[in-house]
Amino acid sequence: MVAPATRKKDQYQAFHTNCNYITSYMAGLLQCNDYTTVLEPCAGEGAFIDEILNKDLSPSIKAYELNDVSLEKLYEKYNNISNVIIEKEDFLLLLPMFEKKFDRIIANPPYGAYQSPERRKQLKRDFPEIYAKETYGLFLARSMEMLNDRGKLVFIIPDTYLTLHMHEGLRKLILANYKIESVTLFSSNFFPDVNFGYAGLSVISIMNEKPDKNHKFPVYNGLKRVSDLPELLTNAKKKYEVCKLSYQRLKKNPSAAFFLPPNNRVITAINSEAPRVSDICSVVTGFYSGNDAKYLRRSASVKRGAKKYAIVDIDEICTDDLSINPPLNGITEPSHWVPIVKGGNRRFHKPSEWYMDWSKNAIHDYRVANKKRARFQNSQFYFRQGIAVPMVSSSSITGSLIDGRLFDQSIVGIFPHDKYKNFTYFLLGFFNTKVCNGLIRTINASANNSANYIKKIPIIIPSKSKLCESVHHEVERLVSLAKSGDVNEEELQKLNRYFDEIYGTKNA
Ligand SMILES: C[S@@+](CC[C@H](N)C(=O)[O-])C[C@H]1O[C@@H](n2cnc3c(N)ncnc32)[C@H](O)[C@@H]1O
Repeated sequence: MVAPATRKKDQYQAFHTNCNYITSYMAGLLQCNDYTTVLEPCAGEGAFIDEILNKDLSPSIKAYELNDVSLEKLYEKYNNISNVIIEKEDFLLLLPMFEKKFDRIIANPPYGAYQSPERRKQLKRDFPEIYAKETYGLFLARSMEMLNDRGKLVFIIPDTYLTLHMHEGLRKLILANYKIESVTLFSSNFFPDVNFGYAGLSVISIMNEKPDKNHKFPVYNGLKRVSDLPELLTNAKKKYEVCKLSYQRLKKNPSAAFFLPPNNRVITAINSEAPRVSDICSVVTGFYSGNDAKYLRRSASVKRGAKKYAIVDIDEICTDDLSINPPLNGITEPSHWVPIVKGGNRRFHKPSEWYMDWSKNAIHDYRVANKKRARFQNSQFYFRQGIAVPMVSSSSITGSLIDGRLFDQSIVGIFPHDKYKNFTYFLLGFFNTKVCNGLIRTINASANNSANYIKKIPIIIPSKSKLCESVHHEVERLVSLAKSGDVNEEELQKLNRYFDEIYGTKNA
């Protein structure tokens, strides 16, 4: 599990749980006694085994590990302890039907560990429903199979399984067959030497028992520091309980996602019959030249990328209104550099600062000569009016007008269907609001706004045309403000109030 953002082809992902608060909390949830059998599927240097033994318990413990350095330490440590058995074995390749089952399993599995293509193939065969790139899901799935009836496991894993689409199979497997006892959420910086920005951490406790349809489990959240964890083993845990999630509800959610409050109205909107963005707009990613160092130029005011990108010659910029007759086959005139909207979180309007070579020769390269690297995709939307939402948002989702320019592959372009063209400003406003941010972060907890997540956002168009008009006027004001500088949070208050009224999130 738990790796810094700069991961390479790391085979083992050996981040050890050297934190007593975490090991003690997890062992506390595990509740073993001298008679239980315990499995540690990926033991590292034995952080969890030590925790159990330090509690003066002597259950019989079996531990697997692959890394020779760790194995040496494990053999040395537990050589004289007869109830601890260490084996060098790839846990994921064990065949559960030939293996003994366990009363308890505790783990901090490797997360996203490198798999060779052959191994990935085999794992995909063994776990067809589980996303094979994220090793933690595989460890969890295999461990659940290795539990005795009413046996229990406690895992520390990233919280991405709660909502990410790729973990749908894992969620459905759990909801159909196992009882989640609790989920505890906390910041990844609780874990020594780790802080991954895109997700938090969670401790999940699961029992091997067929769940009845009314099963519910508590979610704990809001711990400020790692030393708060022991409170969760006492009656004080109630103050961290943010909700009880019911299996009945979760099964009905899109892709069985584990949406969390606090914003119940947001969840109501997600579960409502309201049309999705994809029902009223085309949602597409943009263009890539295949070699930006060659084909992309910057205006002199841009300092970012100064070494890589040349400055565009002002006389060679195409200043025509390209939306009238989009030049999809290239431009013959010398002024063949067209403005392109790139990533970067700026609201409502982005000045033209980047230019793409749109000469006939360049187009030939994008479409033919360098077609493997370039992405001349969704070209029917180039040079149109639409909304640009950067694929990755720094803190909050933002949208700006494309205004008849090209848009690059780091942008999701949102183009209202003909019937909804008049709502372009309404939608532009929406993509800059708190309620839109709440919706997309509920659909997908990470900072990723990929087209597939944007498509799922529910769009409520108010029946009161006066409210629509008010939004439209306010967005016009914000667009012209954005043309003279960045729009700050203060300026968004009125727009946020309108959309809170529309989505009923006023007091949420
Ligand atoms: C994130 S570390 C955690 C170690 C230990 N459980 C802890 O919390 O300190 C994951 C461990 O899993 C081991 N590992 C990786 N893939 C494995 C596999 N397929 N089978 C068994 N162990 C594996 C790694 O070598 C590493 O020591």
